[in-house]
Amino acid sequence: MKILIVDDEDMQRDILKGFLRKKGYEVVTAANGQEALRRFMELPFQLVLLDHRMPDLTGDEVLANMKAINPLVRAIMITAYGTVDTAVEVMKLGADDFLEKPVDLVQLLDKIQMTEQHIIVEEEAADAADTLDQSELPIKIVGQGAAMKEVLSLVRRVAPTPWSVLLRGESGTGKELIARLIHLLSPVSDGPFIEVNCGAIPENLFESELFGHEKGAFTGATSNRRGRFELARNGSLFLDEIGELPLSLQPKLLRALQEKQISRVGSEKEISADVRVITATNRDLRTLVEQGLFREDLYYRLNVFDIELPPLRRRKEDIPDLIEFFLEKYSSRPVVFGADAMTTLVKYSFPGNVRELEHMIQRTVTLGRGRVIQARDLPPEVRYQQVTEEGNLVERLEAVEREMLMSSLEKNEWVQTKAAESLGISERVLRYKMKKYNIKKNLIRR
Ligand SMILES: Nc1ncnc2c1ncn2[C@@H]1O[C@H](COP(=O)(O)OP(=O)(O)OP(=O)(O)O)[C@@H](O)[C@H]1O
Ligand SMILES: [Mg+2]
Repeated sequence: MKILIVDDEDMQRDILKGFLRKKGYEVVTAANGQEALRRFMELPFQLVLLDHRMPDLTGDEVLANMKAINPLVRAIMITAYGTVDTAVEVMKLGADDFLEKPVDLVQLLDKIQMTEQHIIVEEEAADAADTLDQSELPIKIVGQGAAMKEVLSLVRRVAPTPWSVLLRGESGTGKELIARLIHLLSPVSDGPFIEVNCGAIPENLFESELFGHEKGAFTGATSNRRGRFELARNGSLFLDEIGELPLSLQPKLLRALQEKQISRVGSEKEISADVRVITATNRDLRTLVEQGLFREDLYYRLNVFDIELPPLRRRKEDIPDLIEFFLEKYSSRPVVFGADAMTTLVKYSFPGNVRELEHMIQRTVTLGRGRVIQARDLPPEVRYQQVTEEGNLVERLEAVEREMLMSSLEKNEWVQTKAAESLGISERVLRYKMKKYNIKKNLIRR
């Protein structure tokens, strides 16, 4: 659990921090209300320990601001002896509980553990509610399986906050779709959603693309131009393929994010650019950090909250729903998937994930003519690449052998002499193997 301690007394802060870190909590401290709010924007704290009386903002004012950002945050108010004595008064201040100074550490730990219990219960309840909520998403996202439900539940929780979200996942797993969903569920959903594909912009144009430029700033800058950061004001900035961001530009991005200020290329003027940042990558940023290709400070800045999108092969339970969804989207006539076609697809490993499935359905319904799509209507990579992932050596070898026989026979239009020749075996051996595997012409492959 992440805890934020807010207290203007250095000693008190250090004692609490030392004690709670030893108990295994992640602790960050702040010396006044303003600093506390800045920290709170940066990280998802679940609990705040607040000194009630501080010179600038009082504990309850700080808390009111925090609740506006994250209504679920828990707070324990630390009050001077005798100032508040009933739980009701504390609740009026918005806190869940209070402790009097001097703080009794055993009591504190007790209250923190109780808070943790509450959070667990609430999260479970929220999960249950999320499940009921699914139909109300602003865009259609298929995912009834446990893995996607978990993703959607995280999305619902993080969308209302100002935190940067990092979406990780292989190509085609739906990172962009989820980024749009986060935007649509966020408080800035009325604002723009601006995308930057960090892999597609040449290094020398990047700065101007992101921050804009003034007329005459460089050759070719014939007029003033606003950058993506500026365009995303009061909305979300989606930095796609962030792993491709050149090292030379990373300090500039970091600065923009930290200071929420940018200046156009060729101009000194600071422009405010407070945007919700969502990033995505199919690379392992941690490894890039270790290799010195990605700045660690930027990584932490972007990775306040991360969501991993599982590859399709690990959530095969969603394949039938996705097929139905894409059939509806792409087919102008009523089409259904035959059982064998469905089984064949569910077995396939989908290296290109949902995008590959989507294209496949699109192509299949366009090319196919019948009402029922059969396994033989599916593209060859699906039919032939079914080298099983399960089974012992003999089973796997047999599966490979069967696939090779089938594919060779199909390619050679079932002319056995030709198939045998291409396989480098005699016709007699081919016939023997066909019998062994029960391979017949017109038999539907599974
Ligand atoms: N759960 C889902 N439900 C419906 N459609 C989906 C789902 N996931 C992905 N898609 C669709 O699959 C396609 C690929 O998704 P998307 O572009 O979001 O992937 P990506 O992770 O950004 O891929 P890349 O890394 O290659 O950019 C899109 O057309 C998207 O609408
Ligand atoms: Mg993408």
